[in-house]
Amino acid sequence: MKPLKQHTIWGLRGSFILAATGSAVGLGNIWKFPYITGENGGGAFVLMYLLCIALVGIPIMMAEILMGRRARANPIMATAELCEHAGASKGWTTIGWMGVLAGLLILSFYSVIAGWTLEYALAALDGKFAGLTGETSQALFDGLLADSDLMLQWHSLFIAMTIAVLALGVTRGLESAVRWMMPLLFVLLLILLGYAIKEGEFVTSLRFMFSFKLEDLSWEGAQIAMGHSFFTLSLGMGAIMAYGAYMPSSQSVGKTVVIVAILDTLVALVAGVAIFAFVFATPGISPGAGPGLMFVTLPVAFGNMGAGLVIGSVFFVMVILAAWTSTISLLEPGVAYLNERFGLHRIFASLLLGTISWFIGLGSVYSFNDWSELQFLWGKNYFDSMDFIATNIMLPLGGVLIALFTGWKLRDEIILHDLKFESALVFRLWRPVLKFISPIAVLVILYNGIFPVLRAVLVE
Ligand code: PHE
Repeated sequence: MKPLKQHTIWGLRGSFILAATGSAVGLGNIWKFPYITGENGGGAFVLMYLLCIALVGIPIMMAEILMGRRARANPIMATAELCEHAGASKGWTTIGWMGVLAGLLILSFYSVIAGWTLEYALAALDGKFAGLTGETSQALFDGLLADSDLMLQWHSLFIAMTIAVLALGVTRGLESAVRWMMPLLFVLLLILLGYAIKEGEFVTSLRFMFSFKLEDLSWEGAQIAMGHSFFTLSLGMGAIMAYGAYMPSSQSVGKTVVIVAILDTLVALVAGVAIFAFVFATPGISPGAGPGLMFVTLPVAFGNMGAGLVIGSVFFVMVILAAWTSTISLLEPGVAYLNERFGLHRIFASLLLGTISWFIGLGSVYSFNDWSELQFLWGKNYFDSMDFIATNIMLPLGGVLIALFTGWKLRDEIILHDLKFESALVFRLWRPVLKFISPIAVLVILYNGIFPVLRAVLVE
């Protein structure tokens, strides 16, 4: 099977790893992972999460890369091409279409939260965290949520930053961006870790994150861990497939995926350990604060420690970088499609799709203030509805389809051809996991994501 056409391939070693890790490492790692760990009892949850990364995340990520790289095209055209080659129904192209749509939806609300990190980085630099207490910190955050104009401004800026990188192209934009942003992100994370070891309650934090108590293992925690393993590795929506199209053929898929999964997990764990070390070192605040952990609890810790001003700024700049390298991957599948299918210049393609996403995001901005009472899906506000549709339905559904398609539909010779750099063991292990274990596990996520809501509606 020939590639569709001459296609850009990232020449520099490591670019794919940096880009995929950039996509994976984001608000999911630094904002969400620590607070869901805090809410679900620490160590037991971390263990479940690691299991899900190994059994669901890694096999599906390999499948996505393989599909993108085999067809050397954006997810929509890649799935169409592979269907034709495999003699499979055109229905499978749903993978590509749904992926592009999911990317637009996720970007629409992701950039609202990412926008908050811009405001918080400025607040940290301005010294606004100094002497914060639980109440004043909550008031600071509530002030931001109530100010729709301010939130709109940051949401718009984040989308503009995303468009700017994509408009510059696959090499000058995407590849160059991840090549400086990712190393900087790692340096900032190491600074944080160093400071947490020196000044924070590091050992208490380690004990909290890694001490395993059987009674803490709950079925609900397991479901959350499964759903999160998907979101955090950017799976199920074609982001990794789109990047796979730029990956050199000589690179080993198996090794690459393991590196990306390890880096993604390490960032989540290190960020979590550092955050809890700061939180435990500050009297009067607790680790189980939920979504407010990063925007309410943590600033209190920063505002009451020695080098809090510097460390607070380092932290929020790091989160901005992490979110930025994720938002570009959310829009890339659609931009690549418009460019490759219709010859639309990437500048116009990214402007067009970025604007659509910005527009869909307006509802998320207002759902924290003017529209907070408005209910969309089953009693959820606009923001939660978007998050639910994209994260709980579209990503797992995309994941199941990708696993089934690569597991059952793609012929062995295609897969073997592309996995020629892998060991026989990788192949022998990977295919059955992809055929059986991953789809079943993801179906469980999907069922558990939708069923409670449906049941609530039916009972009403
Ligand atoms: N993986 C990103 C995070 O953890 C989110 C993301 C999901 C990015 C899907 C791209 C695609 O924040």
